[in-house]
This record gives sequence, C-alpha cells and structure tokens, in this order.
Amino acid sequence: MTASPLPKIKTAEELRSRRWFGPADLRSFGHRSRAMQMGYSPEEWTGKPVIAILNTWSDLQPCHAHFKTRVDDVKRGILMAGGFPVELPALSVSESYVKPTTMLYRNMLAMETEELLRSHPVDGAVLMGGCDKTTPGLLLGATSMNIPAIFLPAGPMLRGNWQGKHLGSGSDSWKYWDELRAGKITDQDWLAVEGGIARSYGTCMTMGTASTMTAIAEAAGMVLPGGSSMLAADAGHIRLASESGRRIVDMVWEDLTPQKIQSRAAFENAIAVAMAMGCSTNAIIHLIAMARRAGQDIGLDDFERYSRKVPVIGNVRPSGNAYLMEDFYYAGGIKALMNNIREHLDLTCLTVSGRTLGENIEGAKVHNDDVIRPTSNPIYGEGSLAVLKGNLAPDGCVIKPAAMDQRFLKHSGPAVVFDDYPSMKKAVDDESYPFTPDTVMVLRNAGPQGGPGMPEWGMLPMPKKLLKEGHRDMMRLSDARMSGTSYGACVLHVSPESWIGGPLALLKTGDMVEVDVASRSINMQVSDNELAERRAALQAPEPRYERGYGWMFTKHIQQASDGCDFDFLKTDFGRPVDEPVI
Ligand code: FES
Ligand code: MG
Repeated sequence: MTASPLPKIKTAEELRSRRWFGPADLRSFGHRSRAMQMGYSPEEWTGKPVIAILNTWSDLQPCHAHFKTRVDDVKRGILMAGGFPVELPALSVSESYVKPTTMLYRNMLAMETEELLRSHPVDGAVLMGGCDKTTPGLLLGATSMNIPAIFLPAGPMLRGNWQGKHLGSGSDSWKYWDELRAGKITDQDWLAVEGGIARSYGTCMTMGTASTMTAIAEAAGMVLPGGSSMLAADAGHIRLASESGRRIVDMVWEDLTPQKIQSRAAFENAIAVAMAMGCSTNAIIHLIAMARRAGQDIGLDDFERYSRKVPVIGNVRPSGNAYLMEDFYYAGGIKALMNNIREHLDLTCLTVSGRTLGENIEGAKVHNDDVIRPTSNPIYGEGSLAVLKGNLAPDGCVIKPAAMDQRFLKHSGPAVVFDDYPSMKKAVDDESYPFTPDTVMVLRNAGPQGGPGMPEWGMLPMPKKLLKEGHRDMMRLSDARMSGTSYGACVLHVSPESWIGGPLALLKTGDMVEVDVASRSINMQVSDNELAERRAALQAPEPRYERGYGWMFTKHIQQASDGCDFDFLKTDFGRPVDEPVI
C-alpha cells in the first residue's frame, strides 16, 4: 500500500487513552498496575495509540471462524506500527444460527460497539466483521463514537462444490430445495449438497448481504483498497489483517475519524457500487441507517435515482447467472468494478488509506470481462433494485428486478393473504390450496415490529402445486426482508408495516394487487371508502414482548424506510454523550 499523505496532527499527550494511563493519580495507578498484571511493561503502552480490535468471532459464527487466529495478524500489524493492541470480543450475530432473526440484534451490536469504544481506554479501532449484520452493526457504533476506525471484512468463503458444479451460498440451497420438493433430485443428492455448499471459513460467496455490505463499507471509504473482495482463505487476507493493523495506528496520529470519511458523496458512492454489484435488498436498510448516523440524509429516493442510472455489471449470483465471489476476486475485484463505473463515483472522497477513492482504484484492471462487465454490456441495464410506492406502501417497498422472472415486471393478480408464517407454510405444502400462477402471495406481520425484527421471510416458498406444474417464480409480497442470496418476484420491506396498521393490514384475500415496476407503483384495487371501513374495523395486535431486549426493540425500532435504527441511537438524538472523565 502506498503511504498515506496525511499529516500526523495528534500528539502523544492528546491521545484519548492517556486519560486512563497518564495521570499521577489513584485511578491511573489502578489502570497501569492492572496492565502490568497482564504482563505488559509501561514501555509497551506509554505514548502509543491503544487500538481496540473488535472481534466478532464465536463458536457459533462459522463465517468468522478464522477471526480466532486472524486477530493475531491484526495485532502484529499494530505492534509493528507502534501501537498497543487490545482485543475486545463483541456479539458475533451469526446469520447461520441466531433466531428469530439477526436483524433483531444489529442494533444491539451497534450499541455494544459504541459503548465498548467509549468506556475503554482506546484511541482507534479495527472492526472485524463480515457476516451480514456485523458490518452495519460495527460501523453504526463506530460512526456514532467517531474515533478513527477501519473495517476488516472476513472475506468470502471458497466456492461450493457438488458433482463438479459450483454451489452458491443460499441461492443453491433454495434452488435445490425446490428441486427436491419437485422430485427432481434425490435425498442422497440433497445430503451431498449440504456437505459441499460451505467448504471454508468466510462469508457467503454469493452477492448476498455480506458481500454487498463489505463492498458498501469499502465504497464508503472504511476498508483498505480491494479488501472487501479478498477471499477469507487466501494468504492475502492475512496480509490485509496485518495491513489494517498497521494503518489504524497512523490513522490515530492523523486523527482520521469516520466523520471525515463518511460524507454524503461517500454514501452515494456506496449506493452506486451496490447497484453495480446487483446488491442485496438488505443493503438499502443498512445503508440508510449508516448514512443517517453519519449525519447524511440518505433515503429511498437516492437508491431510486442511482438504480435508474447505474447498470448491474457484477455478474455474481443471484443477480448474475454464473459466477461467485471467488470468480469476482480473480476478475479484479471491487477496485476493477469501481473503475468501470467511475463516471458514477465521486473520486475525490477520502478513505481509510489516507488517499482518495480515485487514487485507491488507479490502474485497476478487469481480468475477465464476463464476470466484471463493461457498462456497455451489463447484466441488467438498470440498477438491480426498484423502489415502488402506492396505496399498499405509501412509504415505499423494494423489489429486485434483476433477480426475478421478467414476466412479473408488470403483473396483476388476486391476493392470497397470510397473517403468519406457519399458516402460509402449511398452505404452500397443501396441493389442494387454490394457488394459481397469477396469485399474489402475501405475508404480513413480518416487519420490524411484527416479525419481530423483520425476518428474512420475504422469498415466500413456492407452493408445491405450482412447482410440480413447472413454475419457479410467482409474485410475492410482504413487509419482511429477504436474504441477499434469494431471488424471485418478491416485493419486500412494505412500509409502514402491517403490524402498526400500515395499509398492508387492510388487504384481503381476493383483492386484486397491481405491480408495475416500470412506473414504480404498487396498488391494491380497493376503493378508498372500502379501505376506510376496513381501517375502522382494524384491531391492534397484542404486543410481542412485555419485557427484556425485545420490549426495548419494539418500542424504539424505526421502519424499514428509515433504516430500522433505534430512534434514540441516532447520532443527533439529544445532546452528545459526554466522554467518561472519572
Ligand atoms: Fe454469514 Fe452468510 S451466513 S455471511
Ligand atoms: Mg444473508
């Protein structure tokens, strides 16, 4: 990496950690003696930036399994550059295991990150994350705390393998599950898929939420150049870890804080990159939350604007048809992709490298132009996401036209409405249930409060009957999210959600629903009078939680269109929190 040109403006006397270790008083005596209890001599920390390494490793976080030892490489870098590393474990928010949904805990990690950094003697932070919610969780907290921070992505896992075919995380589980249900593959096949789909540590290697969010983190300036496409199992990832450690020490001396990096233009760059990557729909929620923490008023309209002008050029599943993140890395990775869309980027934005985005991607080359396409030969001409509005979703909802059967771009069909997941699940397995290819299957009470936590239920399972008839897509509608590895004609994030009385709560089975992606509209063909009558009869549901974290969550969670942050975590909510003094 080329050295940062930024001046070192902070002195050792100005280090935040000095308030803990410096003074000749009883409190500091305690801090110093306890550091010595751990075997450190004062020479090892005095006058040096103390760097927190927030490690989201756990035994139930397979995507971060390598973080258990990778953290040593980060420490090596920090030590080499003259810093003092301290590892702080943080919530691992495992997409693979956490129930009911990790989205319930993104904000908990954000709070934990902010408070870990605030309450400890640290001057800067390396944020180790990558599995879906960990990227926004760590960045949200670090942004509010606003001390120098650098994000180290876990990196995508190797391609899956089954009978010589490349398997993609998530996408191929859904695909082969449908094939199994349709009787096209055997139980034996299915078991082999199970053993072959996740072959190494690292995050999902499709363009799911993990790869989308780490790309966004890099485009917004928070990852070292190219870091977000570095594979977890590549030795380059070890070097990236060490380099991130070396770099954060200088960032402390340069006082290069997230606020100096995360401008509005930086988030617009992130949106442009997300669109070009054929991003996960979850990106919208997280990016809005992240931008607003940084004081940038990014909203659904910004996504819509970029979606209209930036084509999908990253040919990675599920938006793309063949490739995975391993191929993307070999083809040149994110730097090459950004180079191809440079006319949509603000190349003057500052990044954690101390250099501009333009300098970071200088000379980046595409090595396979089927994987990273030129804008003249995109996977999908318009951006991968579309924001729809109408009487079903006054505050907006989202669909991913790049990853669905194109005949549903304009669709009108009768709704079949389910109030909860179990009754929907029963119906889709019941071959006598009257689904038709035109049915608009609806699930409600799956939003931020209703889910609770907006689970990834949005790719509602295809009815067995339609699968057997040969159908592989249908129009689906919910206030849930869907996994970034999912695909299909699924309208998601309906805002406001049905649980709090959004119009989705008024829809009935048999009502005609009209979706028109070209005009960005979604409406139920029900008269205003009829809707008013239904609203008058609507009953508020029983609260999901009466104690604990869930209670707090439902009291303070904002709607999807506002990024699902807690209202009280917004950086400008009330006066700033004081630094701890005593
Ligand atoms: Fe961790 Fe997909 S399960 S990134
Ligand atoms: Mg996911």
